[in-house]
Amino acid sequence: MSFTAPIQLPGLALDPQWYKRAVFYEVMVRSFLDSNADGSGDLTGLVSKLDYLQWLGIDALWLPPFFQSPLRDGGYDVSDYTSILAEFGTVDEFRDLVTKAHERNMRVIIDLPINHTSDAHEWFQQSRSDPEGPYGDFYMWSDSDEKYPNVRIIFTDYEDSNWAFDPVRRQFYFHRFFSHQPDLNYENPAVVEAIFDIIRFWLDLGVDGFRLDAIPYLFVSEEGTGEGEPPTHEFLKKVRAMVDRDYPGRVMIAEANQWPNEVAAFMGTDEEPECHMAFDFPAMPRIFYSLRSQQAGELVRVLSEHTHVPEGAGWGVFLRNHDELTLEMVTEEYRQAMYGWYAYDPRMRVNVGIRRRLSPLLDNSRAELELAHALLFSLQGSPFLYYGDEIGMGDNIWLPDRDASRTPMQWTPDRNAGFSSADPGKLYLPVVQSLVYNYHHVNVESQLAQSRSLLHWIRNVIHVRKVHPAFGLGQLRVLPTNHDSVLAFVREYPGSGNQFGDAPETVLCVFSFAHNPAAVRIEAPEFAGQSLRDLFGGGDFPSFDAEGGIELTMGTQGFYWLHVGEGQFAGGRAS
Ligand code: NOJ
Repeated sequence: MSFTAPIQLPGLALDPQWYKRAVFYEVMVRSFLDSNADGSGDLTGLVSKLDYLQWLGIDALWLPPFFQSPLRDGGYDVSDYTSILAEFGTVDEFRDLVTKAHERNMRVIIDLPINHTSDAHEWFQQSRSDPEGPYGDFYMWSDSDEKYPNVRIIFTDYEDSNWAFDPVRRQFYFHRFFSHQPDLNYENPAVVEAIFDIIRFWLDLGVDGFRLDAIPYLFVSEEGTGEGEPPTHEFLKKVRAMVDRDYPGRVMIAEANQWPNEVAAFMGTDEEPECHMAFDFPAMPRIFYSLRSQQAGELVRVLSEHTHVPEGAGWGVFLRNHDELTLEMVTEEYRQAMYGWYAYDPRMRVNVGIRRRLSPLLDNSRAELELAHALLFSLQGSPFLYYGDEIGMGDNIWLPDRDASRTPMQWTPDRNAGFSSADPGKLYLPVVQSLVYNYHHVNVESQLAQSRSLLHWIRNVIHVRKVHPAFGLGQLRVLPTNHDSVLAFVREYPGSGNQFGDAPETVLCVFSFAHNPAAVRIEAPEFAGQSLRDLFGGGDFPSFDAEGGIELTMGTQGFYWLHVGEGQFAGGRAS
């Protein structure tokens, strides 16, 4: 497979706010490409696919943990933060990945699970066997399992307490996730120092930032819920100050599965910033709710809330990732509705969520996949794609836990989907062979050969997004419509006025969740008389009338991205 050169965006390489315009791609090293036939993906394999990712229009990779680990939680159970699991590669190979990515103007974000370690970590082994030693206080030990009564259990399918008894130390230790993942004791300054050293180690290796896994949970108090407690924010401010001082341009991304104001708190304030970005957990399930309920109301509500974020901070928007589609941020009534639509087989559920990939969730409907991606690429924030979703990969609900959607990337119709030349039985997980998503027909090679494939469509949308700065940098304002199924908003960008020279622009985005065609009137008096043009093909649309209304006819689950006003714009297809 060979790939033509992508559109180069002037400025993105040097822009200190590059992350606001970037398109991110989550790729598990284990799942992408196996270069040495041992059945597991590796760093060298990933390097060999950078051309593909560049062709697709990806600006930044997010790599889930690839450190030393017993892999009992997909690598989020780290047993040594500064070495790489042998089957994935070496530190030198990681350096090579960073260099080769940077050569392509692509950033590399790594994942740092610093709330907890694996129980196989040397720190824990020493802590349990030598309570008086240097690591004795590295974890949260107690003689009782009754402390912190307000702290909820996250892995509800697997754990019934946040405490586990250690027979060696003969005490209980606290854990927010699996019992083999003891929480670090952030009250101990030596832990904070050790974590700072780890962060510096990877920044010194050239990474462009990190996703801070499970970040709300660092500090816990007897009265609190252990989520976003004040000392956790103080810690983040210190990390941010260090990054800004010593590693400017690198970013911190918060994984905080919380309500909008609580998530925004992880970006800090203008005076005391914390993370540069936070994932938009509240918006994500509402996209799925709207698709099936045919109602735009929930999205309108959440997008109309004006959650203040500091200057320079941005959201990370996503549809799916390596975890379950979490339903923690919806009410019980909505959760039940979503289980009914999307997880009708109990095997599809895990914890408080749904362990399926995007395409099966949307029943492989091209219209729904396009609508969902059109939202992903136009909501306020930077889009995060999950590997394989660009070709509509399927899942395997017969595999345990979240492995259902972590199967090997499907490159070709050949053995092991072109992922590996190992004996098929040796793969870390089997490739998807289901009736609808079988790798014989769902793979990169066959989609490259079809100009109307989902892969080409997604690449095109990415490139259209990238030439319109309003998507990365503009404000979002919801507009009133007279149709319950239609969401309309504008992305308004006043122009940069800086050396990157972006012109002002306004884009009207309209989405219909109706399962039939719909006619809608959108009101925007401030645009009275203004013209509209389609961003994809440049076609003229009727102008806003003298009152600032516009009547649009929407196809079933259709959407429009329309340039508002006169003036040139750089639109069109990627070559
Ligand atoms: C969040 C990660 O996304 C998830 O995969 C992991 O299981 C938990 N943190 C615990 O580390």
